[in-house]
Amino acid sequence: MSQEYEEFRKMLSFPVELRHEGRATFLSPILPSTREFAPTSLPAFFNPASKLSRDIAVLFLKAYFEDRKISICEPLAGIGVRSIRLILETGLIDHALVNDISKNAYELIKVNAKINNVEDKLEVSVLDANELLASRGRGKPRFDYVDVDPAGSPAKFMENSFRGCGKNSILGATATDLSALTGSKPLSCLRKYDSYVMKTPFFKEVAVRVLAGFMVRTAARIGLAAEPVFAFLKDYYTRVFVRVSPGIEDAKKLLRQVGWIAYCPRCFTIYTYKIGEESISCCPTCMKPISSSGPLWLGRLCREEIVYKMHRHAYANLELYREAAKLLEEILQEDTSIVGYYPVNSIASILKISPVKPKAIIEELRNRGYKSSTTHFDSTAFKTEASSEVIKEMFLYMLSKK
Ligand SMILES: C[S@@+](CC[C@H](N)C(=O)[O-])C[C@H]1O[C@@H](n2cnc3c(N)ncnc32)[C@H](O)[C@@H]1O
Ligand SMILES: [Zn+2]
Repeated sequence: MSQEYEEFRKMLSFPVELRHEGRATFLSPILPSTREFAPTSLPAFFNPASKLSRDIAVLFLKAYFEDRKISICEPLAGIGVRSIRLILETGLIDHALVNDISKNAYELIKVNAKINNVEDKLEVSVLDANELLASRGRGKPRFDYVDVDPAGSPAKFMENSFRGCGKNSILGATATDLSALTGSKPLSCLRKYDSYVMKTPFFKEVAVRVLAGFMVRTAARIGLAAEPVFAFLKDYYTRVFVRVSPGIEDAKKLLRQVGWIAYCPRCFTIYTYKIGEESISCCPTCMKPISSSGPLWLGRLCREEIVYKMHRHAYANLELYREAAKLLEEILQEDTSIVGYYPVNSIASILKISPVKPKAIIEELRNRGYKSSTTHFDSTAFKTEASSEVIKEMFLYMLSKK
């Protein structure tokens, strides 16, 4: 480590190493050389695998706030890399409140702010995230952007995170507890998100919709309208960004897009019903009982104009955002108005036939006038509004052409 950084290293009580990510240079705890390690076991949390999540936060803020100067809060900041990158790479941040409950993380955030010359914009604190966020609004300003990024579920921070959100602000939340959100642990999901979720072939989208629905419902409880504007799932985590504005009537409007998904494993039909609509407990085709997952968000997950702007910026700076550009391209190709998707192998195993290529079936469905697209959730799957009867007919037709 060069002399310059030696000075900083001496300020810390645990061993560190120099790293670079995006436009930031920073010190992190020394990471084990094995690929698989638990970042929570480090003296202060840092996960290099979350680079894409941080890239996306940068691109989202650039696209959404454009030239507006903003204040941000990162209540669970680890060693501060996310906020430092947001300051350096968006050029939009006037003030960042960067907090972590860990004393080691707090010390490292201060050092990293110095290394990157952002001390004038970055305020550091060492508090419990709920304590910090709950105090907002009582004589203390709220934020234009709150980024909740815990290891695990954001559920216990959600209501206070909304309290930290100002007028026309954004809340971005990460969840890494995918076993709860995807239906592998239904009771964990019920406990944390107040949703009961069954495992389906489109479980990754269900995870995102449960988190989005939970955000909409939590905001509504305290009189705020939180509309999902961008969401994705990658590897071990999902992220949802919602636009937050005060208003009980707007909150109620959004609640009308919350509902349930019922899935029939016999005929692979995906049914949805919203709050106030008749529930579906029996598959109308098979006349057998089916179970539902929810409540969850049934509306659009992404605003195309925002994704488009994010992609344009990523593409213009590929040296920094190559992986993000690829993900955004996949999301741009996806029809996010369609709920659910069909992995070709799961359809093939239900029909007891061979699978067909997702790209080929999408083309054929479109030729016949049905909306259909790929999905970033699963490269082996397709989305469509066509019925399961049509999908079955299409599979058989395509196999007959082979
Ligand atoms: C996943 S890490 C944050 C990573 C960071 N946002 C990033 O992008 O690199 C979660 C952090 O939350 C902190 N934390 C856990 N419980 C907390 C609490 N109740 N209040 C504040 N920080 C907390 C942990 O110390 C840890 O550093
Ligand atoms: Zn059925």
